[in-house]
Amino acid sequence: MGTNGVAVAGSTAETNGMALIACGSALPAISVSNQQLSERVDTSDEWIRTRTGIGARRVAGPEESLTLLATQAARAALAHAGWGPEDLDLILLATSSPDDLFGTAPRVQGALGATNAVAFDLTAACSGFLFALITAGQYLRSGTMRRALVIGADQLSRWVDWNDRTTCVLFGDGAAAVAVEACPAGENGLLAFRMRSDGSRHGCLTLAQTAEQQPVLSGVTAQLGGFSPIRMNGQEVYKFAVREVPAVLNELLEATGTAAADLNWLLLHQANQRILDAVADRFAIPQERVLSNLADYGNTSAATIPLMLDEAVKDGRVRPGDLIASSGFGAGLSWGGALLRWAGPRG
Ligand code: ACO
Repeated sequence: MGTNGVAVAGSTAETNGMALIACGSALPAISVSNQQLSERVDTSDEWIRTRTGIGARRVAGPEESLTLLATQAARAALAHAGWGPEDLDLILLATSSPDDLFGTAPRVQGALGATNAVAFDLTAACSGFLFALITAGQYLRSGTMRRALVIGADQLSRWVDWNDRTTCVLFGDGAAAVAVEACPAGENGLLAFRMRSDGSRHGCLTLAQTAEQQPVLSGVTAQLGGFSPIRMNGQEVYKFAVREVPAVLNELLEATGTAAADLNWLLLHQANQRILDAVADRFAIPQERVLSNLADYGNTSAATIPLMLDEAVKDGRVRPGDLIASSGFGAGLSWGGALLRWAGPRG
């Protein structure tokens, strides 16, 4: 790889796999309990836990920008991989809550000093991390790039209506990163994937631009920028998730001739424990092989999958060679799945 995203290599037999090498995460300091939320909106710890499995969530303070959290997560992943920032060819930041609509990934690249990497944002809500991981896989597996950081980071606390009990209890803030590397085909860790969109149902879950019109010149009306808080049809999104996630995972298992019993872990977007349970039931996967940290962090959107992976890698649950079925789903509507094999840092 040359400097700043300029491809110099063609596809070779040595480099048509992608290995998942390392991970890292960063969370805001403040944790908000269900009890605290019940002092603001008409809700209860019992309602939130029973309907969602969520017990607390982190809320970013004014100093804890998305850039800061994403950079901290990236540094942790680099340290875990044993890489320097100059080793990176690509930084993909999956987020729907950027510090800057022109792109936050370049800020992360600058903060890291990753001078050889091209960096850009990818927006696909709660499917964002998985879509970004698959996208990075295309560059690595084609031999165009060698090393990448895929970051999932969101701060939806800045975009919820804190008076709307149907949404403000669900979301939290966080960032996590996975370091991936081109590798021989035999060591490939992105075994199969699927990505889907259905924009006809975008209205189920929105963080939409506001439409405040302002006459700016004679005969010219401009629309002032701004965004409305998150609006969600929870029941529709729930039904969508429990229908589409098993379907996409089933396709992956069939395509690779994998039995659900062969999976070490089910690693789904952490939106609701009831969704995790429904998908696990569908494949008869026992609870001890379903990764969940909803109780501590709620739905951190693009960050949930790498945040959960980092926790399970660091506490020794996920080990090198483990087979992981993962699925992201959410606004768009968008959804996808990937069958992954965790490699871990090179010896
Ligand atoms: N506390 C107390 N009561 C509440 C709360 C709350 N926080 N929120 C809603 N209620 C009430 C409702 O007003 C309703 O009252 P009513 O019967 O008097 O009208 C009642 O509880 C039941 O509401 P439902 O919406 O039917 O509750 P449901 O069981 O569907 O649970 C939930 C709601 C948790 C949102 C669920 O639908 C869900 O998890 N949906 C999926 C959300 C999701 O997965 N999002 C992922 C994508 S995120 C992304 O892409 C950014």
